[in-house]
Amino acid sequence: MTLPHIAIISSSIRMGRNSHRIALYFEKYLKENNWATVEVLDLMEYNFPLFEERLKYQTTPMAKAVDFGGKIKSADGVIIVTPEYNGGYPASLKNVIDLLYDEWQRKPVAISTVSDGNFGGSQVITSLQFILWKIKAWTVNAMFPVPNVTDTFNEAGIPHDKSGTDKRAATFIKELLWCIEAKSKM
Ligand SMILES: Cc1cc2nc3c(=O)[nH]c(=O)nc-3n(C[C@H](O)[C@H](O)[C@H](O)COP(=O)(O)O)c2cc1C
Repeated sequence: MTLPHIAIISSSIRMGRNSHRIALYFEKYLKENNWATVEVLDLMEYNFPLFEERLKYQTTPMAKAVDFGGKIKSADGVIIVTPEYNGGYPASLKNVIDLLYDEWQRKPVAISTVSDGNFGGSQVITSLQFILWKIKAWTVNAMFPVPNVTDTFNEAGIPHDKSGTDKRAATFIKELLWCIEAKSKM
């Protein structure tokens, strides 16, 4: 059986960021359970310039933009790990959503919101779901909010409560895998 391939977008490009821990957690979790092949697309590493034009209309696109577009296109599903900044998603994330177009079409996308406060970045969900809907991605009806991230995960993405976190992750990931499988039957 061929495993689905999942791309995890780690959205924070902030020095000393904490939400990257959740991207590392999902990477490890998916591999441990042998549910998918996985790659973390780290927006800090990509270090994209501010958006000027969609990739498909660029005459001399940067190699890293082509690389990123190809990785989203070829992924069977995407997990977006995003921090909450002033009740919204970071500019770094909107920057790459706008960069692509066809690549997002009917792409199963699951969203994990992260904050160091009590509410797990949950205010991001509606605005992020809306722009993903606008671009015709298929947002998965499951959430994985992470409150108090620095108290609950270490820097390597290991949760302090592994069994409880894994149980919550299973519900989230199974929903994404269901969408991936449903799409593969079309
Ligand atoms: C510009 C900025 C705005 C923030 N706004 C919020 C917020 O609205 N709600 C919240 O719970 N945390 C907020 N935070 C704290 C983040 O939740 C915290 O930095 C967390 O670790 C996730 O972001 P990171 O991955 O960049 O570290 C904010 C942080 C920054 C840098």
